[in-house]
Amino acid sequence: MDLYKPQYHFIPEKNWMNDPNGPIYYKGKYHLFYQHNPNDYHWDTMHWGHAVSEDLVHWEHLPIALTPSNELGETHCFSGCAVINNDGLPTIFYTSIGENERNGKDGAQQWMAVSHDDMITWEKYDSNPVLKLKLHGKMNIKEWRDPFIWKENEVWYMVLGGGCEEKGCVLIYSSLDLMNWKFLNKMFEAPEFKFLECPNMIKFGDKYVLVYSPSDIVRYHVGTLNEDFTFISEYEGILDNSGWEGFYAPNTLIDPIGRKIMWGWMTEVSRGDFEGANGWAGAQSIPRVLTLDSHNSLKMEPLSEYEMLRYDEESYNNKIINKNKIILKSKGRALEIKITIKINGDEDFSLNVFESPDNVETTTIRYDAVVGEIFVDRSKSSISEQVHKTILKSPLKKEVGQLLSIRVFVDHSIIEVFADSEICLSTRIYPTLENSENVSLELNKGNELNIQELSLWKMKSIW
Ligand code: FRU
Repeated sequence: MDLYKPQYHFIPEKNWMNDPNGPIYYKGKYHLFYQHNPNDYHWDTMHWGHAVSEDLVHWEHLPIALTPSNELGETHCFSGCAVINNDGLPTIFYTSIGENERNGKDGAQQWMAVSHDDMITWEKYDSNPVLKLKLHGKMNIKEWRDPFIWKENEVWYMVLGGGCEEKGCVLIYSSLDLMNWKFLNKMFEAPEFKFLECPNMIKFGDKYVLVYSPSDIVRYHVGTLNEDFTFISEYEGILDNSGWEGFYAPNTLIDPIGRKIMWGWMTEVSRGDFEGANGWAGAQSIPRVLTLDSHNSLKMEPLSEYEMLRYDEESYNNKIINKNKIILKSKGRALEIKITIKINGDEDFSLNVFESPDNVETTTIRYDAVVGEIFVDRSKSSISEQVHKTILKSPLKKEVGQLLSIRVFVDHSIIEVFADSEICLSTRIYPTLENSENVSLELNKGNELNIQELSLWKMKSIW
């Protein structure tokens, strides 16, 4: 048994996976595609893997959707999206990469493929490319990729990421038929980054949430679109505090009741040269449901359907912890933990998971109310010297008397933390000891920890 292979997060049958691609609801089912190398567990020859689900939790693997057409000079099918075209046919848009003049840095093209058999096979469009760099006239655009499409008032819009004059940018286009596209504007610029990947534009009433992956922590902006199609940002935030250590290149599905459901690639970078896990790499995060609250701040909640995986509940109400460390009855490598604390203002506490009885390995979720910060401390997460052990953290200020609500999902080599539905820390750990399975709670500083509610569940496998 592989101690590290996730059991309730989506992964391919074997080999490499990175970005979620083109998630879409079609004829009663949810489809998820993903960047995939079917030949190895390292990144290369990007294909589109494909899976289908009836409940967004359990998945069935389907045949590969897109394979690079070497005969057409294509060596990779990079990330993109799926829509249902004006004739009702499922249609994929993706970035086609080849060698030499078709290289990813300055020769990318945007291609289309259509399915006539309910998404089992995909035919690449005869007149590909649909969009070429020439569309922008003299603009100097590099690393142009990752189409994301949505429809408003019968008009299709597309955003693509890239670098304009060495500055990260998002470009916007429109079309009536998905085949003829007009370049509208450079919609957004993030000059602190060289290029931006995987832009998503998610509409909430008259606001948009723009999400992008800048080879760093994934960011979002809440704002509006000007008449000239430039983005007016009203608020900027962090979608997840991990970046390459765990959550990157997210993509979004809109379900039949309008929920905006997002997956992110749980990268394998933290694995380093560790050889304990092999034959597979990469997982998809728990799907997050995104909403904007009345102050236009973004909320992220784990998809409620995941509750169907819970079993063997252990729970407490109104429990006070003073100095002693408490080891909980529940243990394991596939758990959900929910804890709500009433803040006293002087507490610093730790919730430890993947902890060995001798405490040699432990991964700590820590909250320091004095400083107002939350951490995922991986420094003792594994006795392996190869894996990454940096500490992830985020500011999180609370007032005395307020409640702090933390949800934690652990799954073999995954830990995802949601704090107050606003802050996410999603990362990877590789605890090597078979008995690194305990869960414990301790108060590091302060008089007492006032737990309003604590629940732990074991989680079933989705396979
Ligand atoms: C993001 C990314 C995308 C690209 C894909 C290639 O992780 O670099 O920009 O399309 O991965 O696999």
